[in-house]
Amino acid sequence: MLPSEEIRKSFLDFFKEKGHKIVPSSSIIPADPTSLFTSAGMQQFVLYLNGSRDVLREFATRQLASCQKCVRTVDIEEVGDDTHHTLFEMLGNWSIGQDRNSGYFKEKAIEYALEFFCDRLKFDKNKLWITFFKGEKEIPADKEAVRIWEKNGIPKERIKGFGSSDNFWGPVSETGPCGPCSEIHYDRGEKFGCSKPGCGPNCPDCSRFVELWNLVFMEYNKVHSSASGKFYYEKLPQKSIDTGIGFERIVSIIQEKDSAYETDLFYPLIKIIEKISQKPYEDNKKNFRILADHLRAVSFMIAQGILPNNLGRGYILRRLLRRIYRTANVLSLPSGWERECIDWIVKKYSGVYPELLSETNDIVIVSSKEYEKFGKAIREGMKFFEKLVSDKLKKKLPKVIKGEEAFSLYETYGFPFEFILQLAEEKGFKVDKEGFLKWSGRHREISRKGAKKKFGGLGIEEITKEGDRIKVTRLHTATHLLQAALRKVLGSQVKQMGSDINPKRLRFDFSFSRKMTPEEIKKTEDLVNKKIKQALKVKEEKMPFKEAINQGALAFFKEKYPEVVSVYSIFDQKTGEVFSKEVCAGPHAKSTKELGKFKIIKEESSSRGVRRIRAVLEQ
Ligand code: SER
Repeated sequence: MLPSEEIRKSFLDFFKEKGHKIVPSSSIIPADPTSLFTSAGMQQFVLYLNGSRDVLREFATRQLASCQKCVRTVDIEEVGDDTHHTLFEMLGNWSIGQDRNSGYFKEKAIEYALEFFCDRLKFDKNKLWITFFKGEKEIPADKEAVRIWEKNGIPKERIKGFGSSDNFWGPVSETGPCGPCSEIHYDRGEKFGCSKPGCGPNCPDCSRFVELWNLVFMEYNKVHSSASGKFYYEKLPQKSIDTGIGFERIVSIIQEKDSAYETDLFYPLIKIIEKISQKPYEDNKKNFRILADHLRAVSFMIAQGILPNNLGRGYILRRLLRRIYRTANVLSLPSGWERECIDWIVKKYSGVYPELLSETNDIVIVSSKEYEKFGKAIREGMKFFEKLVSDKLKKKLPKVIKGEEAFSLYETYGFPFEFILQLAEEKGFKVDKEGFLKWSGRHREISRKGAKKKFGGLGIEEITKEGDRIKVTRLHTATHLLQAALRKVLGSQVKQMGSDINPKRLRFDFSFSRKMTPEEIKKTEDLVNKKIKQALKVKEEKMPFKEAINQGALAFFKEKYPEVVSVYSIFDQKTGEVFSKEVCAGPHAKSTKELGKFKIIKEESSSRGVRRIRAVLEQ
C-alpha cells in the first residue's frame, strides 16, 4: 500500500521535474478578509492570477505547485459520512500567464495530468472519465478542452459536458479569477454503480465515479459594478492554469478504501480511539470519524494561532471543540484521552506542516481548557434544564421548551442548538425554534443567508466583520513595526505623519525628504519580517502621557492625547530588547508571530517632505 506521504511526494516531485517551483502551503487564515478560511490551493496566488502582482518577480517562474491545507465549513454537518472533512489537503499545480520561457495553458495542463495519473500513478486510462464546460449564459462551451482530451486518447464517449454548477470554477470569494474547468473522474467499477442508463460522472444516484482532479482554465475575472450593483465577467489580462486534487480522495483511491477514514491519513488515529474507548469502530463509525476529523482540524487551527471565542474563526473552533467534547462523552472517554491522539496527529503531519510541532503545547492547553470550561457550563446548564423540565411536568404545562428558555441554554451555558433539540427529544419535549431564533435576534439574518452559508446560527456577515477586525488589528501592529524599521534604516528623522488602515492594507505617511531606494525598501521589509519571525511580544501599559514621552515612546503629535495614555511596546521576551514603543489606542496583536509576511507594495511621495508607503500582510 502506497503511504500517503509517498503520494504527496510523488505529485510534488513530478511537477518539480516539469519545472515547477514547490511552494509551501499558506496559512489556513487567508489574506483576503472576505473569506473565513483558505479553501483552495489557488487562494495564495489570487493577486498573481489577476495580474496585480508579478509572479516572475517573486517566484522567478510562472509554474508553481503545492500541497495546501484547507478548511471548508459548509460541509461540517456532513462529517461522519465517507467523504466529508472539515480540514483537508489539496494538491495543485499552477501556470500563471505564459511567455516564451515558461507557462502553459490547456494543452500542457491536460498532458501533465494524464501523464501523472497514468504513467506515474499507473492508473488505468480506461477508468478515467472527463467532464467539460458545455457553455452557459455569456460564456461559450469549452470545445478546445474536448479536442485536447480526445487528442490525448480519451474517447468521446467518456467526455461529458456540464453547466456552470459543475464545470465553471470560482471565484473563491465574491469576485476574482475564475473559468471553465475540466474534471478527471475515476470509475470505481460496476459494483459501486446504480446501473441506470446514463450513469456517469456526477451521477445523482450512485458514487461509482469519483472526481479526482479539477483543471481550471482561468480566463475570466468576476467583477462587481458599483454603478449597477451587478456582477459581470471580464477577460483576465492573462490566461492561467489552476488545478486541484483532493488529497484525501486520491489517497482513498490509491489505497483502495471506500473512505479516507480508513486510509493511513486517519485509520491509526481511529485505532487509538478504539483502544481508549474499548469500543469497536464498526459499531461507532460516525462518532469515531467526528473525533478523528475534528481533532485533526482543531490541531491545525490552534497551531495557526486561532483561539476559541464567540466570533468568526474562533467560533468555528469553539463549535468543533464542543462537538469533540460531546462525542467523547457519548463514548465515555476518560479525561485527557485526547493527548495520545494529538501526539499522533503532530507526528503524522508535522513533516509537511511544521507549526504542529512547534505549537503542540498550545494545541494541548487550548483544547483542554476549552473542554474544562464547556464541561462546567454543561453541568450547570443541565441542572437548569432538568429543573425546567421537571417544573413543567409538575405544573402539567405543555411539553415545550420556549424560545426564551432555549436561548438561555444557548447563550448562558453555550449549548449548541442541535444539542438542545437532542436533550428535549430525550425527554419527549419540543423546542420552539421560531421563538429561539427571535430571541437570538438573528432570525432575519439566518433565513436571508440560507442554511448553506451559516454555521451554528452565525451569519456570514458577522464572520466577515470579525475577519476584518483581525486583519486591521494585525496591520496596526505591522504599522508600528514599519515605523520602527524605517527609523532604523533611514534614521530618526522619520516620524509618523499619518496612517490609514483597512482590512486589505496599511498606508503610512512619514517625514523623509527623498524617494527611498529599492535597497532601503528591501531592508525595511526584511527587518519587519525578521521581527515578525522573532515572535516579539506586544505589551500594553497605561501611564501619564508625559511619562510615556520621557520613556521614549513615539507619539503622533497631530493627535490630542488624554492625560493617561496606552503605550504599546513590541519587545523580545528573552532579551528584553524593545524594538518599538508608541503611544497608541490599539488594538494590537498579542505577538508579532500572528502577522504573517509583510510586504511593501508601493513607496511614493505624499506631499513635500512626506513619503507614503502602502503595505500588506500575507498569511
Ligand atoms: N481552484 C480549484 C479547486 O479548488 C482548482 O484548484 O477545485
